[in-house]
Amino acid sequence: MRENLIEKAKKVLLGNKKKGFTLPTNNKLYPAQWKWDSGFIALGYSHFNLKYALDEITTLLKGQWKDGMIPHILFHDLNTNYYPNHSVWNCGNKIHSSGITQPPVLAIILKKILDKNKIKVNEKTKIKLIIKKLKKYHEWLIKYRDPRNTGLVSILHPWESGYDNSPLWDYSMNEIKVEKNLKYKRGDNKVINPEYRPLDEDYDRYITIKNHLRKNKYNPKKLYNESMFNVVDVGFNSIFLKANKDLIELLKSFNLEHNNLQKFILKSENQIEKLFDTRKGVFVNYDIKNRKKIIVPSITNYFILFADLKNQLINKKIIKNLKNHNQNEKYLFSSIKPNYGKFEEKRYWRGPVWINCNWIIYQGLKNKDKKFANKIKENTITLIKKNGFYEYYSFKTGEAFGANNFSWTASLFLDLIFDKNRTN
Ligand code: GLC
Repeated sequence: MRENLIEKAKKVLLGNKKKGFTLPTNNKLYPAQWKWDSGFIALGYSHFNLKYALDEITTLLKGQWKDGMIPHILFHDLNTNYYPNHSVWNCGNKIHSSGITQPPVLAIILKKILDKNKIKVNEKTKIKLIIKKLKKYHEWLIKYRDPRNTGLVSILHPWESGYDNSPLWDYSMNEIKVEKNLKYKRGDNKVINPEYRPLDEDYDRYITIKNHLRKNKYNPKKLYNESMFNVVDVGFNSIFLKANKDLIELLKSFNLEHNNLQKFILKSENQIEKLFDTRKGVFVNYDIKNRKKIIVPSITNYFILFADLKNQLINKKIIKNLKNHNQNEKYLFSSIKPNYGKFEEKRYWRGPVWINCNWIIYQGLKNKDKKFANKIKENTITLIKKNGFYEYYSFKTGEAFGANNFSWTASLFLDLIFDKNRTN
Protein backbone atom coordinates (compact mmCIF):
# COMPACT_ATOMS: atom_id res chain seq x y z
CA MET A 1 0.00 0.00 0.00
CA ARG A 2 1.19 3.47 -0.82
CA GLU A 3 2.42 5.19 2.29
CA ASN A 4 0.39 8.21 3.20
CA LEU A 5 2.09 11.35 1.95
CA ILE A 6 1.42 13.24 5.13
CA GLU A 7 3.33 10.59 7.03
CA LYS A 8 6.09 10.76 4.46
CA ALA A 9 6.39 14.51 4.84
CA LYS A 10 6.67 14.15 8.61
CA LYS A 11 9.32 11.49 8.10
CA VAL A 12 11.36 13.86 5.92
CA LEU A 13 11.41 16.40 8.74
CA LEU A 14 12.14 13.88 11.45
CA GLY A 15 14.83 12.31 9.28
CA ASN A 16 16.60 15.67 9.00
CA LYS A 17 16.18 16.52 12.68
CA LYS A 18 19.23 16.99 14.90
CA LYS A 19 19.24 18.10 18.54
CA GLY A 20 17.06 21.25 18.66
CA PHE A 21 17.26 22.08 14.96
CA THR A 22 16.69 20.56 11.53
CA LEU A 23 18.92 20.37 8.46
CA PRO A 24 17.55 21.67 5.15
CA THR A 25 18.15 18.19 3.71
CA ASN A 26 19.72 14.96 4.84
CA ASN A 27 22.60 14.79 2.41
CA LYS A 28 25.93 16.58 2.53
CA LEU A 29 24.74 19.70 0.72
CA TYR A 30 23.67 21.88 3.65
CA PRO A 31 25.08 20.49 6.92
CA ALA A 32 23.96 23.33 9.21
CA GLN A 33 20.93 25.33 10.36
CA TRP A 34 19.68 27.90 7.84
CA LYS A 35 17.57 30.83 8.89
CA TRP A 36 14.58 30.96 6.58
CA ASP A 37 14.58 27.18 6.19
CA SER A 38 14.17 26.98 9.97
CA GLY A 39 11.15 29.28 9.83
CA PHE A 40 9.40 27.10 7.25
CA ILE A 41 10.46 23.96 9.11
CA ALA A 42 8.95 25.26 12.37
CA LEU A 43 5.64 25.79 10.55
CA GLY A 44 5.74 22.20 9.32
CA TYR A 45 6.36 20.83 12.82
CA SER A 46 3.55 22.96 14.22
CA HIS A 47 1.10 20.63 12.46
CA PHE A 48 2.17 17.66 14.54
CA ASN A 49 4.63 18.66 17.26
CA LEU A 50 4.44 22.14 18.72
CA LYS A 51 7.46 21.54 20.92
CA TYR A 52 9.70 20.80 17.95
CA ALA A 53 8.38 23.92 16.21
CA LEU A 54 9.26 26.20 19.11
CA ASP A 55 12.59 24.43 19.69
CA GLU A 56 13.58 25.09 16.06
CA ILE A 57 13.04 28.84 16.50
CA THR A 58 14.56 28.94 19.98
CA THR A 59 17.76 27.28 18.79
CA LEU A 60 18.05 29.67 15.88
CA LEU A 61 17.67 32.63 18.22
CA LYS A 62 20.44 31.30 20.47
CA GLY A 63 22.75 32.29 17.64
CA GLN A 64 21.46 35.87 17.48
CA TRP A 65 24.29 38.38 17.65
CA LYS A 66 24.52 40.89 20.49
CA ASP A 67 23.52 43.74 18.18
CA GLY A 68 20.36 41.88 17.12
CA MET A 69 21.40 40.32 13.79
CA ILE A 70 20.17 36.79 13.16
CA PRO A 71 22.72 34.99 10.98
CA HIS A 72 21.74 33.10 7.87
CA ILE A 73 23.68 29.99 8.92
CA LEU A 74 24.46 28.51 12.35
CA PHE A 75 27.24 25.93 12.33
CA HIS A 76 26.32 23.54 15.13
CA ASP A 77 28.59 20.87 13.72
CA LEU A 78 32.12 22.09 12.98
CA ASN A 79 33.23 18.95 11.25
CA THR A 80 31.83 19.23 7.77
CA ASN A 81 32.97 19.66 4.20
CA TYR A 82 30.73 22.66 3.66
CA TYR A 83 32.17 25.77 2.05
CA PRO A 84 32.21 28.54 3.27
CA ASN A 85 32.41 26.90 6.69
CA HIS A 86 32.63 28.36 10.20
CA SER A 87 36.37 29.04 10.08
CA VAL A 88 36.05 30.93 6.82
CA TRP A 89 33.31 33.17 8.19
CA ASN A 90 35.07 33.36 11.54
CA CYS A 91 32.27 34.97 13.53
CA GLY A 92 29.25 34.27 15.70
CA ASN A 93 27.86 34.78 19.16
CA LYS A 94 27.72 31.64 21.34
CA ILE A 95 27.31 29.56 18.17
CA HIS A 96 29.62 29.79 15.13
CA SER A 97 27.74 31.49 12.31
CA SER A 98 27.85 33.29 9.01
CA GLY A 99 28.08 37.09 9.11
CA ILE A 100 25.01 37.92 7.02
CA THR A 101 21.26 37.44 7.42
CA GLN A 102 18.37 35.95 5.37
CA PRO A 103 14.71 36.88 4.72
CA PRO A 104 12.89 37.85 7.96
CA VAL A 105 10.12 35.22 7.88
CA LEU A 106 10.19 34.30 11.58
CA ALA A 107 7.58 36.74 12.93
CA ILE A 108 5.19 35.69 10.17
CA ILE A 109 5.68 32.02 10.95
CA LEU A 110 5.38 32.53 14.70
CA LYS A 111 2.11 34.41 14.29
CA LYS A 112 0.74 31.62 12.10
CA ILE A 113 1.72 29.05 14.70
CA LEU A 114 0.17 31.01 17.57
CA ASP A 115 -3.03 31.72 15.64
CA LYS A 116 -3.55 28.00 15.19
CA ASN A 117 -2.43 26.53 18.48
CA LYS A 118 -3.51 26.90 22.07
CA ILE A 119 -0.46 27.90 24.05
CA LYS A 120 0.00 26.57 27.58
CA VAL A 121 0.68 29.05 30.35
CA ASN A 122 4.21 27.71 30.92
CA GLU A 123 5.04 28.29 27.25
CA LYS A 124 4.05 31.95 27.38
CA THR A 125 7.33 33.11 28.92
CA LYS A 126 9.28 31.28 26.26
CA ILE A 127 7.19 32.86 23.52
CA LYS A 128 7.45 36.34 25.00
CA LEU A 129 11.22 35.98 24.93
CA ILE A 130 11.13 34.90 21.27
CA ILE A 131 9.00 37.94 20.40
CA LYS A 132 11.42 40.28 22.17
CA LYS A 133 14.33 38.82 20.26
CA LEU A 134 12.49 39.17 16.97
CA LYS A 135 11.80 42.80 17.78
CA LYS A 136 15.50 43.35 18.39
CA TYR A 137 16.24 41.76 15.01
CA HIS A 138 13.71 43.93 13.17
CA GLU A 139 15.20 47.00 14.86
CA TRP A 140 18.63 45.89 13.69
CA LEU A 141 17.42 45.69 10.09
CA ILE A 142 15.85 49.13 10.32
CA LYS A 143 18.85 50.76 12.00
CA TYR A 144 21.66 49.26 9.95
CA ARG A 145 20.06 48.37 6.66
CA ASP A 146 18.11 51.58 6.30
CA PRO A 147 20.36 54.16 7.97
CA ARG A 148 19.00 56.93 5.74
CA ASN A 149 15.47 56.33 6.98
CA THR A 150 13.92 55.61 3.62
CA GLY A 151 11.50 52.91 4.73
CA LEU A 152 13.27 50.22 2.67
CA VAL A 153 16.07 47.94 3.81
CA SER A 154 19.10 46.75 1.82
CA ILE A 155 20.73 43.39 1.41
CA LEU A 156 24.52 43.32 1.30
CA HIS A 157 25.07 39.90 -0.24
CA PRO A 158 22.96 37.91 -2.76
CA TRP A 159 22.82 35.09 -0.19
CA GLU A 160 20.83 37.39 2.08
CA SER A 161 17.93 37.24 -0.34
CA GLY A 162 17.76 33.44 -0.19
CA TYR A 163 17.59 33.34 -4.02
CA ASP A 164 21.33 33.22 -4.44
CA ASN A 165 22.02 33.15 -8.18
CA SER A 166 18.85 34.85 -9.41
CA PRO A 167 19.33 37.00 -12.54
CA LEU A 168 18.14 39.82 -10.26
CA TRP A 169 21.77 40.13 -9.15
CA ASP A 170 23.50 39.76 -12.53
CA TYR A 171 24.08 43.43 -13.13
CA SER A 172 25.38 44.14 -9.62
CA MET A 173 27.54 41.01 -9.60
CA ASN A 174 29.16 41.93 -12.90
CA GLU A 175 30.28 45.19 -11.33
CA ILE A 176 32.25 43.34 -8.67
CA LYS A 177 35.98 42.92 -9.18
CA VAL A 178 36.91 39.42 -8.14
CA GLU A 179 39.65 39.29 -5.49
CA LYS A 180 43.06 38.33 -6.89
CA ASN A 181 44.44 34.89 -6.02
CA LEU A 182 41.15 33.75 -4.61
CA LYS A 183 41.50 30.19 -3.32
CA TYR A 184 38.59 28.06 -2.18
CA LYS A 185 37.06 24.66 -2.75
CA ARG A 186 33.35 24.32 -3.40
CA GLY A 187 31.57 21.32 -1.94
CA ASP A 188 28.07 21.81 -3.36
CA ASN A 189 28.80 20.84 -6.97
CA LYS A 190 30.37 17.56 -5.88
CA VAL A 191 27.14 16.50 -4.18
CA ILE A 192 24.63 17.81 -6.74
CA ASN A 193 24.85 17.87 -10.54
CA PRO A 194 26.77 21.09 -11.37
CA GLU A 195 24.23 21.82 -14.13
CA TYR A 196 21.73 22.67 -11.40
CA ARG A 197 24.04 24.78 -9.27
CA PRO A 198 25.45 28.33 -9.47
CA LEU A 199 28.55 28.80 -11.65
CA ASP A 200 32.13 29.24 -10.47
CA GLU A 201 32.03 32.84 -11.65
CA ASP A 202 29.11 33.39 -9.24
CA TYR A 203 31.02 31.76 -6.39
CA ASP A 204 34.11 33.89 -7.08
CA ARG A 205 31.95 36.91 -6.42
CA TYR A 206 30.10 35.45 -3.43
CA ILE A 207 33.43 34.75 -1.79
CA THR A 208 34.93 38.10 -2.75
CA ILE A 209 32.01 39.93 -1.11
CA LYS A 210 32.17 37.67 1.93
CA ASN A 211 35.92 38.28 2.36
CA HIS A 212 35.34 42.00 2.18
CA LEU A 213 32.63 41.79 4.86
CA ARG A 214 34.99 39.78 7.05
CA LYS A 215 37.80 42.30 6.55
CA ASN A 216 35.39 44.91 7.87
CA LYS A 217 34.63 42.68 10.85
CA TYR A 218 30.98 42.52 9.76
CA ASN A 219 30.60 45.97 11.28
CA PRO A 220 27.03 46.98 10.37
CA LYS A 221 27.74 50.69 10.93
CA LYS A 222 30.34 50.72 8.20
CA LEU A 223 29.03 48.19 5.76
CA TYR A 224 25.90 49.87 4.46
CA ASN A 225 28.15 52.41 2.76
CA GLU A 226 31.16 50.25 2.07
CA SER A 227 29.81 46.88 1.02
CA MET A 228 30.57 45.79 -2.55
CA PHE A 229 26.91 44.87 -2.95
CA ASN A 230 23.95 46.92 -1.73
CA VAL A 231 20.53 46.30 -3.23
CA VAL A 232 16.97 47.14 -2.24
CA ASP A 233 15.08 44.01 -3.20
CA VAL A 234 11.31 43.98 -3.60
CA GLY A 235 10.93 40.41 -2.35
CA PHE A 236 12.98 40.91 0.81
CA ASN A 237 11.20 44.18 1.62
CA SER A 238 7.79 42.64 1.00
CA ILE A 239 8.55 39.88 3.46
CA PHE A 240 9.85 42.46 5.94
CA LEU A 241 6.72 44.58 5.60
CA LYS A 242 4.49 41.58 6.23
CA ALA A 243 6.74 40.46 9.11
CA ASN A 244 6.54 43.92 10.71
CA LYS A 245 2.75 43.89 10.48
CA ASP A 246 2.62 40.46 12.11
CA LEU A 247 5.20 41.35 14.74
CA ILE A 248 3.09 44.32 15.82
CA GLU A 249 0.16 41.99 16.45
CA LEU A 250 2.42 39.72 18.48
CA LEU A 251 3.82 42.65 20.48
CA LYS A 252 0.31 43.93 21.20
CA SER A 253 -0.83 40.56 22.48
CA PHE A 254 2.01 40.65 25.02
CA ASN A 255 1.56 44.34 25.86
CA LEU A 256 4.97 45.19 24.47
CA GLU A 257 5.93 48.54 22.96
CA HIS A 258 5.57 48.85 19.16
CA ASN A 259 5.44 52.55 18.19
CA ASN A 260 8.70 52.64 16.24
CA LEU A 261 7.78 49.63 14.18
CA GLN A 262 4.41 51.18 13.40
CA LYS A 263 6.16 54.29 12.09
CA PHE A 264 8.46 52.21 9.93
CA ILE A 265 5.52 50.31 8.44
CA LEU A 266 3.82 53.52 7.34
CA LYS A 267 6.97 54.74 5.63
CA SER A 268 7.70 51.35 4.15
CA GLU A 269 4.23 50.90 2.67
CA ASN A 270 4.56 54.30 1.05
CA GLN A 271 8.06 53.76 -0.31
CA ILE A 272 7.63 50.25 -1.60
CA GLU A 273 4.88 51.57 -3.87
CA LYS A 274 7.49 53.85 -5.42
CA LEU A 275 9.33 50.77 -6.64
CA PHE A 276 6.33 50.12 -8.87
CA ASP A 277 6.92 51.25 -12.43
CA THR A 278 3.40 52.30 -13.44
CA ARG A 279 4.22 52.49 -17.13
CA LYS A 280 5.55 48.95 -17.34
CA GLY A 281 3.29 47.68 -14.58
CA VAL A 282 6.13 45.90 -12.78
CA PHE A 283 8.12 46.18 -9.57
CA VAL A 284 11.73 47.29 -9.84
CA ASN A 285 14.75 46.55 -7.63
CA TYR A 286 17.21 49.32 -6.86
CA ASP A 287 20.98 48.83 -6.79
CA ILE A 288 22.12 51.46 -4.31
CA LYS A 289 25.81 50.82 -4.85
CA ASN A 290 25.66 51.47 -8.60
CA ARG A 291 22.58 53.71 -8.58
CA LYS A 292 20.77 51.57 -11.05
CA LYS A 293 17.22 50.31 -11.48
CA ILE A 294 17.02 46.58 -12.06
CA ILE A 295 14.09 45.08 -13.93
CA VAL A 296 13.99 41.29 -13.97
CA PRO A 297 10.76 39.24 -14.18
CA SER A 298 11.43 37.34 -10.95
CA ILE A 299 8.65 35.54 -9.14
CA THR A 300 9.95 37.11 -5.93
CA ASN A 301 8.63 40.51 -7.05
CA TYR A 302 5.17 39.05 -6.47
CA PHE A 303 5.95 38.62 -2.77
CA ILE A 304 4.44 42.10 -2.66
CA LEU A 305 1.04 40.37 -2.50
CA PHE A 306 2.11 38.86 0.82
CA ALA A 307 2.73 42.37 2.19
CA ASP A 308 -0.97 43.19 1.76
CA LEU A 309 -0.55 46.66 0.28
CA LYS A 310 -3.61 48.84 0.71
CA ASN A 311 -3.26 50.03 -2.89
CA GLN A 312 -5.80 47.86 -4.71
CA LEU A 313 -4.84 49.24 -8.10
CA ILE A 314 -1.32 47.90 -7.79
CA ASN A 315 -2.56 44.60 -6.38
CA LYS A 316 -4.88 44.16 -9.35
CA LYS A 317 -2.16 44.89 -11.91
CA ILE A 318 0.23 42.56 -10.20
CA ILE A 319 -2.27 39.70 -10.13
CA LYS A 320 -2.94 40.21 -13.82
CA ASN A 321 0.81 40.01 -14.54
CA LEU A 322 1.18 36.99 -12.32
CA LYS A 323 -1.40 35.17 -14.39
CA ASN A 324 0.88 35.72 -17.39
CA HIS A 325 4.08 34.64 -15.67
CA ASN A 326 3.99 31.08 -16.97
CA GLN A 327 0.32 30.81 -17.63
CA ASN A 328 0.17 27.85 -19.95
CA GLU A 329 2.24 25.56 -17.81
CA LYS A 330 0.87 23.19 -15.24
CA TYR A 331 3.47 23.82 -12.59
CA LEU A 332 3.41 27.23 -11.07
CA PHE A 333 5.66 29.21 -10.73
CA SER A 334 8.99 29.32 -12.50
CA SER A 335 11.33 31.45 -10.40
CA ILE A 336 12.07 33.54 -13.52
CA LYS A 337 9.64 34.21 -16.36
CA PRO A 338 10.47 31.62 -19.06
CA ASN A 339 10.63 34.11 -21.94
CA TYR A 340 13.36 36.13 -20.17
CA GLY A 341 16.75 35.90 -21.89
CA LYS A 342 18.60 34.64 -18.84
CA PHE A 343 16.05 32.03 -17.83
CA GLU A 344 17.50 28.53 -17.29
CA GLU A 345 15.13 25.64 -16.74
CA LYS A 346 17.34 23.66 -14.36
CA ARG A 347 19.73 26.09 -12.72
CA TYR A 348 18.71 26.78 -9.14
CA TRP A 349 17.15 30.26 -8.82
CA ARG A 350 17.31 31.04 -12.54
CA GLY A 351 14.14 29.19 -13.55
CA PRO A 352 13.03 26.19 -11.49
CA VAL A 353 9.90 26.15 -9.32
CA TRP A 354 10.55 26.55 -5.60
CA ILE A 355 7.87 25.50 -3.14
CA ASN A 356 8.50 28.36 -0.71
CA CYS A 357 7.85 30.91 -3.48
CA ASN A 358 4.57 29.22 -4.39
CA TRP A 359 3.64 29.14 -0.72
CA ILE A 360 4.39 32.84 -0.14
CA ILE A 361 2.37 33.84 -3.19
CA TYR A 362 -0.48 31.57 -2.19
CA GLN A 363 -0.59 33.26 1.22
CA GLY A 364 -0.59 36.66 -0.43
CA LEU A 365 -3.39 35.78 -2.84
CA LYS A 366 -5.78 34.08 -0.41
CA ASN A 367 -7.51 37.32 0.53
CA LYS A 368 -7.34 38.83 -2.98
CA ASP A 369 -8.18 36.14 -5.55
CA LYS A 370 -9.35 32.97 -3.91
CA LYS A 371 -9.83 31.00 -7.10
CA PHE A 372 -6.33 31.70 -8.36
CA ALA A 373 -4.92 31.08 -4.88
CA ASN A 374 -6.56 27.66 -4.73
CA LYS A 375 -5.20 26.78 -8.15
CA ILE A 376 -1.68 27.53 -6.92
CA LYS A 377 -2.25 25.44 -3.84
CA GLU A 378 -3.64 22.45 -5.73
CA ASN A 379 -0.93 22.57 -8.40
CA THR A 380 1.79 22.79 -5.78
CA ILE A 381 0.39 19.81 -3.89
CA THR A 382 0.15 17.82 -7.15
CA LEU A 383 3.70 18.72 -8.11
CA ILE A 384 5.01 17.31 -4.82
CA LYS A 385 2.73 14.27 -4.88
CA LYS A 386 3.99 13.31 -8.32
CA ASN A 387 7.66 14.11 -7.93
CA GLY A 388 8.59 13.89 -4.26
CA PHE A 389 9.96 16.25 -1.63
CA TYR A 390 12.73 17.85 -3.65
CA GLU A 391 14.51 21.16 -3.48
CA TYR A 392 13.24 22.52 -6.84
CA TYR A 393 11.46 21.37 -10.01
CA SER A 394 11.11 21.98 -13.73
CA PHE A 395 8.22 24.35 -14.45
CA LYS A 396 7.49 22.37 -17.63
CA THR A 397 7.65 18.73 -16.68
CA GLY A 398 7.72 18.80 -12.91
CA GLU A 399 11.02 16.89 -12.99
CA ALA A 400 12.73 17.15 -9.62
CA PHE A 401 16.17 18.73 -9.21
CA GLY A 402 18.65 19.38 -6.42
CA ALA A 403 18.44 17.70 -3.03
CA ASN A 404 15.89 15.04 -2.13
CA ASN A 405 14.10 14.97 1.24
CA PHE A 406 14.11 18.74 1.36
CA SER A 407 12.75 19.99 4.67
CA TRP A 408 10.91 23.16 3.62
CA THR A 409 9.19 21.30 0.77
CA ALA A 410 7.90 18.74 3.28
CA SER A 411 6.90 21.44 5.78
CA LEU A 412 5.07 23.63 3.34
CA PHE A 413 3.36 20.59 1.82
CA LEU A 414 1.96 19.87 5.28
CA ASP A 415 0.91 23.47 5.70
CA LEU A 416 -0.90 23.52 2.35
CA ILE A 417 -2.59 20.17 3.01
CA PHE A 418 -3.84 21.31 6.41
CA ASP A 419 -4.90 24.73 5.18
CA LYS A 420 -8.42 25.42 6.32
CA ASN A 421 -9.44 27.01 3.04
CA ARG A 422 -8.74 23.83 1.17
CA THR A 423 -11.45 23.19 -1.38
CA ASN A 424 -11.29 19.41 -1.50
C1 GLC B 1 20.58 27.79 -0.62
C2 GLC B 1 19.31 28.56 -0.97
C3 GLC B 1 18.78 29.24 0.26
C4 GLC B 1 18.56 28.19 1.36
C5 GLC B 1 19.82 27.34 1.59
C6 GLC B 1 19.54 26.14 2.47
O1 GLC B 1 21.60 28.64 -0.24
O2 GLC B 1 19.54 29.47 -1.99
O3 GLC B 1 17.60 29.93 -0.01
O4 GLC B 1 18.20 28.82 2.54
O5 GLC B 1 20.30 26.85 0.37
O6 GLC B 1 18.46 25.38 2.01
